[in-house]
This record gives sequence, C-alpha cells and structure tokens, in this order.
Amino acid sequence: MMTLYPGLGCLTQLWIIFVALGLVQCGSAQFCSFWNSGCIDPLAQAAVSFQFEPLFADPITLFYAFDSSLHGKGEGPMTKTAFWLGYKDHNINPYAVDMNRTSEIALRVGNLTGTPSGSNNGCDGIWGPHCSQDIQTALQNIIFKIATSGDYYTQPLATALDQFIVDQPELPSCGASVFDVAAIPVQDFAYEQVPSEEVTIMKGGAGYHPWQVWYIDQMTDIQQASQVAVGIASRAPTFGDQPPLTPNDIQIELVCLQAPQGPSGLKDND
Ligand SMILES: *[C@@H]1O[C@H](CO)[C@@H](O)[C@H](O)[C@H]1NC(C)=O
Ligand SMILES: *[C@@H]1O[C@H](CO)[C@@H](O)[C@H](O)[C@H]1NC(C)=O
Repeated sequence: MMTLYPGLGCLTQLWIIFVALGLVQCGSAQFCSFWNSGCIDPLAQAAVSFQFEPLFADPITLFYAFDSSLHGKGEGPMTKTAFWLGYKDHNINPYAVDMNRTSEIALRVGNLTGTPSGSNNGCDGIWGPHCSQDIQTALQNIIFKIATSGDYYTQPLATALDQFIVDQPELPSCGASVFDVAAIPVQDFAYEQVPSEEVTIMKGGAGYHPWQVWYIDQMTDIQQASQVAVGIASRAPTFGDQPPLTPNDIQIELVCLQAPQGPSGLKDND
C-alpha cells in the first residue's frame, strides 16, 4: 500500500508507505484471552504523547497496556504487557530525510517504581535530569559504535539494548540499574531512505494489534500498576555507507508512564 504525501509531491519525491509488518489482527477488540499474544484486553492502559521531531512534525503517542493472570504458567501470578504507537498519518517532515535511518521504540517494565513528572516526558521525576542525560549519552555512544563498526546490524536500538542487558553501562547519576530487566522488547517503526526520500512507517497499533506483547512472571497486577514503564524512542543510521557521524546524530527520547489499576474486580481473567 503506497500513498503519495499529499501537497508535497510537487516539492519533493517523498513517499510514505504504511505497512502492517506482518501483524495479525484479532477478529475482535472486545475480548482477547491472556495467552493470545496477538492482542490485549487491558486491565490497565495509559498513553503519553511526546515530540519526535524532526521526522514527525506532530507529537506521537506511546500506548502501554497490561493484563494479568493469577495463575500464570505455573503457580504464581503473571502479567501480559503490550505497547504500540499511534500517530497522525501525514505528519512526516520530508526535509528531515537526509540519510538512511531506522526509528525504533522500546519499552522496559520491571524493577522501577516512582511517579512520572517533569522533563524528558516524565522521566526526570523518576530519576532526575542527570540520569536521563546519562541514559541518552550511553545509548548514543553505543549506537554510534555499532553504526561505525562496519559490522552488519538491522535494528540499532535493539542491538544496543541487547548489549546493555548483558553488559550494563555505567550511569553515574542513576540509582538502581535502569537496565536491570529480563527483557526490553523493541519495535522498528520508521525507515527513511535516500536518495528516494522514501519513508516507510509502521501502521499505528491498537489493543487488537499491539506491536509487542510479552509476559512477566511473578508480577501481580498491583505490582505492575506501581511500576514505571520507560519508553525509549530512537532514530539512528541504518546499516550502510553513511556520511560521517557523531553520537549527537543519534536521537534518543525517553518517555515514562504508569498504568494505574482500575477498581478491583473490574475484570476477571481467570
Ligand atoms: C528484576 O531484577 C532481577 C535481578 O536482576 C531480575 O532477575 C528480574 O528478572 C528483574 N525483573 C524484571 C521484571 O525484569
Ligand atoms: C540507502 O538505502 C537504499 C535502499 O536500501 C540503498 O539503495 C542506498 O544505497 C542506501 N544508501 C546508503 C548511503 O547506504
């Protein structure tokens, strides 16, 4: 499915392609079982809009949702977590496209509580502005290293986070380790290409087609409601011959949100 960006076709050769990237839609948004990883019927859900300029002229929205089961895989409780982005369809800034770039969004949940507030989309209220800066700098540096190493990669942020989970970076202004989680799911959602100025954007998600779904063992709904979910959005060079780079050419945005639980007994999953 291809759509010519209306009104700008005469100025540029920008093409925007919305793709479903193999997402399987559940037939119904009304009900989705706990073990169906293609959808989520959330017990709690939250959304935060944030700036992702210059590629997106308008704010984009991160959705985070979770569901829970008392019995999980074995005996203990378990939660099911999902995220996706939503955006207006035609808010791409064609003048931002000057290199092959990949944009990704990651979400970490676990071992972090607090109340989102302040700058960096609520994250400064969790760990302070210096820690936000440390995380951004550490990610810029490692993605820079990956992008200039000559080694093949597909998703720069996912590659960087894999390395950080194994080998935690030094973050002098952060308290408990930000990367002390079992998994940080990542979704690539925008590809920019030169010289065609083609931009491929993943279609916005929803509860009936979330972008990523995963399960957290031994987590109750009450515990997860107190957790802070941290979104990490990146825009970084795609593998290939690129113009000279600096770490500052790599964009990292942090977004912190919580999904408070509704009244108990709202929904019974078991
Ligand atoms: C919290 O940290 C512990 C210890 O590192 C780890 O085993 C656990 O998986 C983490 N929790 C989550 C939800 O990732
Ligand atoms: C950018 O991507 C296009 C399409 O994959 C490719 O043909 C081109 O060589 C790439 N440019 C660079 C500088 O890597």
